Amino acid sequence: MAWLRLICVLAIVSTVSADGTVPVGQRVDCFPDPGFSQDACKARGCIYDSDYEQNKPSDPLCYFPANNGYTVTDQSVKANTTTATLTFSSGATANPFGTNFQQLQFQSTQLGNALKVSIKPVGTSRYVPPVPIAEPFIQSPESLNVEIVNNTGGFSFRVVRQINNIRLWDTSIGGLHFADQYIQIATYLPTDKIYGFGENIHQNIKHDFTKYTTWGMFARDQPPNSVNGEGENLYGVHPFYLGLEEDGKAHGVFILNSNPQDVTTGPAPHLVYRTIGGQLDIYYLPGPTPENVIRQYHELIGKPFLPAYWALGFQLCRYGYSGVDEVKDTVARLKAAGIPQDVQFADIDYMERYKDFTYDHDKWGQWPNFTDYLHSQGQRVILIFDPAIQADYDTFKRGIEQNVSWIEWPRDDLVMRDIQDQYPLAKNTKIMLGVVWPDKHVGFPDFLDPTNITTNWWADEFKRYHDLQKFDGIWLDMNEPSNFGTNQDPPWYYGSSDHPNDLPLKCPTSGADSALDIPPYKTKGVYIYGDGNVFASNTLCAFGTSIRGQSTLYNTKNLYGYSESVSTWKALEVARGKRAAIVSRSTFPGSGTVAGHWLGDNTARWEDLRTSIIGAQEFNLFGIPYVGSDICGFLGTTNEELCLRWQQMGAFHSFMRNHNTAGEPAQDPAQWPSVANATRIANLFRYRHLPYLFSLHFNATRYGGTVIRPVFFEFPLDATTHTLSHQFLWGPAVLVAPVTEPGVKTVSAYLPTEANWYSLFDTYYGSQLDSGHGVFPAPWTSIIPTFLRAGYILPRQAPALTTTAARQNQFELVIGSAVDAGTGSAHGELYWDDGETWIPIGAIEQHNYYRFAFDFSFTTASATLKITALNTATGITLPPLNNIEVFGYPYIPDMNQFYVNGQQVKIDSLTYSPFTKVANITSNGLIDLNKGTVTLSWKNKSN
Ligand code: NOJ
Repeated sequence: MAWLRLICVLAIVSTVSADGTVPVGQRVDCFPDPGFSQDACKARGCIYDSDYEQNKPSDPLCYFPANNGYTVTDQSVKANTTTATLTFSSGATANPFGTNFQQLQFQSTQLGNALKVSIKPVGTSRYVPPVPIAEPFIQSPESLNVEIVNNTGGFSFRVVRQINNIRLWDTSIGGLHFADQYIQIATYLPTDKIYGFGENIHQNIKHDFTKYTTWGMFARDQPPNSVNGEGENLYGVHPFYLGLEEDGKAHGVFILNSNPQDVTTGPAPHLVYRTIGGQLDIYYLPGPTPENVIRQYHELIGKPFLPAYWALGFQLCRYGYSGVDEVKDTVARLKAAGIPQDVQFADIDYMERYKDFTYDHDKWGQWPNFTDYLHSQGQRVILIFDPAIQADYDTFKRGIEQNVSWIEWPRDDLVMRDIQDQYPLAKNTKIMLGVVWPDKHVGFPDFLDPTNITTNWWADEFKRYHDLQKFDGIWLDMNEPSNFGTNQDPPWYYGSSDHPNDLPLKCPTSGADSALDIPPYKTKGVYIYGDGNVFASNTLCAFGTSIRGQSTLYNTKNLYGYSESVSTWKALEVARGKRAAIVSRSTFPGSGTVAGHWLGDNTARWEDLRTSIIGAQEFNLFGIPYVGSDICGFLGTTNEELCLRWQQMGAFHSFMRNHNTAGEPAQDPAQWPSVANATRIANLFRYRHLPYLFSLHFNATRYGGTVIRPVFFEFPLDATTHTLSHQFLWGPAVLVAPVTEPGVKTVSAYLPTEANWYSLFDTYYGSQLDSGHGVFPAPWTSIIPTFLRAGYILPRQAPALTTTAARQNQFELVIGSAVDAGTGSAHGELYWDDGETWIPIGAIEQHNYYRFAFDFSFTTASATLKITALNTATGITLPPLNNIEVFGYPYIPDMNQFYVNGQQVKIDSLTYSPFTKVANITSNGLIDLNKGTVTLSWKNKSN
């Protein structure tokens, strides 16, 4: 192995020529901003490549020399910490966007088997996001080491997997810079199988390293462009990726930084990370399996919250409902069509002129009564709340009286008096007033307020409102935060029939006060929207204060949605005290501890259906497994076929909601008989398998990890799975192959050959299918192709029109036997609780829940299903387990020889097909799970 490593080192070193030129695939771009010219490049002290290849427009023509300007001047290793002082050499290529700090401190710390590397200036304290990152002892059978290299090329470091010396990072590619408003680090990567970074639209789940691509990470109210997006930054920020190494081992890298930032992936393979504030805190996670990596990541950032059981039901929404009557008709239409529905939403229409904590007493006057009606039907309500509060009504007034913290102008002389003076309550404050949906100007609460005053006020507002008008879950929108028309003259809403001509917010665009809005390097998330674009576009001014005056939006804007979600978690606890679900548009690492996410304002196009499949998998990596897209598409006009296919696919996403924008035709599934039928079938399948989906969520809450996962997570050694973007797994056991194109009646899918698979859908139901590539029927009248992996048992429950009703129904099991030489086995588990008891963050272990393990095995003569109660709850009665279906069962069970705990029992019905090899056993009261551990056994008929 050692000689191989040596060759690798030589390979990298030998590509750097004496004059400092670097081959085109290994460059660190010195001109990531607009305005490139040969002269400008040379003025930066960078290398200009005159050899321009027309057909490779992404190649950097101006790049940094291949070394770092910093050298190690001091180094020490103590226990599990390595520190080094790095000094910037006088003759080195300067930082193009500021003056590099002369001295940096490098520190690497072992976090158990993981590693944290921090790089920050010596003697200057830098902003660190106030996000609770636990630094636990991360356990793994594999360890990571850090190696500092200080050769003539300057300082670099490597993060190495101890067992095989694979370098997960190697910064000898050069380009390390650290100035106040421009920090850059670049590294070679051991693999081009990189997954993650967000929130962006990715056309494929695996990043493309054949060219250079830059991804913006800067929270923005930006509808995804699924057709030809170019790395646009969307609503949330997730500086995390998972890398899959050649031998199938996986690692994770998380960079804790909340300033505007971007990342470029390049062919070496390598990446260049840039941020314009804070410092570098980089966490390296050893895996070695992909799921290990994600669990380790969630140990750091916090494990996902457990949604209420009802929140896994089907949800319907639209923007532009004309009033309660329309909602009533819609809910009734779904019921008449037999479509299971748990949740009805109301968008901003329900509010009185779009003010939070109000409702329109005219068209929505019956809303509280209708909510009571929905509750009586076992259904739930989720309401939208925006963060911005109109500056002249009770909620705002109470905020002022209670000394709530707001995003403010940093100085009195900057306050826009022509806006401020219109509002007696805000007149004597520095609150930065902007414009969102309400008729008048709005203030933005500072949810990072360290005093709790802001959170307490927010929670109290929810409580007051809940006393007036009940709701169950909370939908948080516009929290990037979005602001309309900033710096626009005239702003886009002037002349709108639904918005008065409020003066727009103007942020300084020149002079010292524009230093944050127009930093030397603005990041891809700003440049991509055009040359004149600045930080404040679609949002508030960068110098707006946050953390009660201690920081600025420049640092914390990317945390706005996260912090609002945390405050809203408290609000939910105070207002309802029951588990529910919060969904937030803007997210950051840690958001998943309190909230889920929908993938934003997609468009009713096939491209958007496809990218939403990737988005949902990525958000599972990011610790936000309660995720889904606006089914049928939000913007634009959907059509029957697209809507049908999206309903079928969305039935497998944890957050399953159909949502539509105002002004488009209704697209609830009952609009077309075919879509109604397909949705009814898909929803019934979903509701039947909710005990499994819920158990996956429960595990994610306990241990971290994914609910929906990419196929390669379970089959990392199978290269075909590495690029599968549009198939996904429900946990380890169920593979879903959605229809993603128009005009087809079949799906080409890949069933990993390391496993055996059974059909869980209508065609060949229960039969074992050939692994490998296959074409499967996907008619409109069935669920999409779905497969059960041999060796797994799924708990399920007879479905109903709501989860409230379904939870009373019988439990069932479906067993996918792993058969080997006439014997077989399978395993599974079930978590169960009352579905809605409040669980404080991190308190899942103290929660009142059941957990059962299922262990099934058979021989020629007999079969045994052992159900072990690993945890028992008090005060929860479980329905009986009445039905067991066994796939891949080679023998005929003898109906007269069934035993529960050794006592013979009578079976109501038994079917067996020697063709499909499915045994189906039904008996009322077969197993009473309330009694705890139990064994069911039977004998087979002898031939
Ligand atoms: C933008 C959200 O993304 C969308 O889902 C919502 O319908 C509108 N705001 C109106 O509230």
